[in-house]
Amino acid sequence: MTTIGVFDSGVGGLSVLRHIRSTLPDARLLYIADSAHVPYGDKPLHYIEQRAISLTRFLIEQGAEAIVIACNTATAAAAATLRQNFAHPIIGMEPAVKPAVAATRSGVVGVLATVGTLRSARFAALLERHANGIEIITQGCPGLVEQVEKGDLAGSDTRMLVERYTQPLLSSGADTMILGCTHYPFLAPLIREVAGEHVALIDTGLAVARQLQRRIETELSESPPGDGSAHFFTSGYVPLASLIMSKLWGNRVDVQELPKEPV
Ligand code: DGL
Repeated sequence: MTTIGVFDSGVGGLSVLRHIRSTLPDARLLYIADSAHVPYGDKPLHYIEQRAISLTRFLIEQGAEAIVIACNTATAAAAATLRQNFAHPIIGMEPAVKPAVAATRSGVVGVLATVGTLRSARFAALLERHANGIEIITQGCPGLVEQVEKGDLAGSDTRMLVERYTQPLLSSGADTMILGCTHYPFLAPLIREVAGEHVALIDTGLAVARQLQRRIETELSESPPGDGSAHFFTSGYVPLASLIMSKLWGNRVDVQELPKEPV
């Protein structure tokens, strides 16, 4: 049955999974939060590549027919390696530069992302292709992913970080901000409060879900529909993961421990 495997460094990819759920209501979904290894944003490339290979292997063993890398950092580091190693459709994601460039009226776009994403060759190539003369200001956001992992979406420490990271973008005149990390859509209400309603926030989750749907229609058309179930795994601490993932998913979820060596 149509089974989609999705992974992220932690709980952030749930912001993508919710779009996948509503786009493909019948698919069987498997989600891994690799929270024992979060954040990916400050890890070396080969470390993220190894994690991505290991998690993908596990998802395929559990029946996944397509893989979504619900993480900008892991896509930049490991999408090419995964495509070399696995024949399954691999859907990655990257900061939504093209739609943001089309949307800005001030001619200044801000990108909030991890340091790993911003320094990647893939991101440099993305700017090269789509910046189109628009000024793009990038801002790495150390610490923000960790706040979301704790489920702290609006506390004073999180607000302080959001203020610190949005301020340079606002003072440069950005009217459009790209949420270039899948953890950040969970902070959208706070970012909107801090930056002001006039700033457009651009997220990639829906576009990824639609891309996945197209790939399924063309490449997995023989696969019978799934049962609409969703299964959650973590490499982190299960009771904490259950609490945070239930909060972010909006329903109580049972989280299973990822086997230590999923190979
Ligand atoms: N959600 C990941 C992303 O989209 C966060 C990476 C991290 O763990 O630093 O980039």
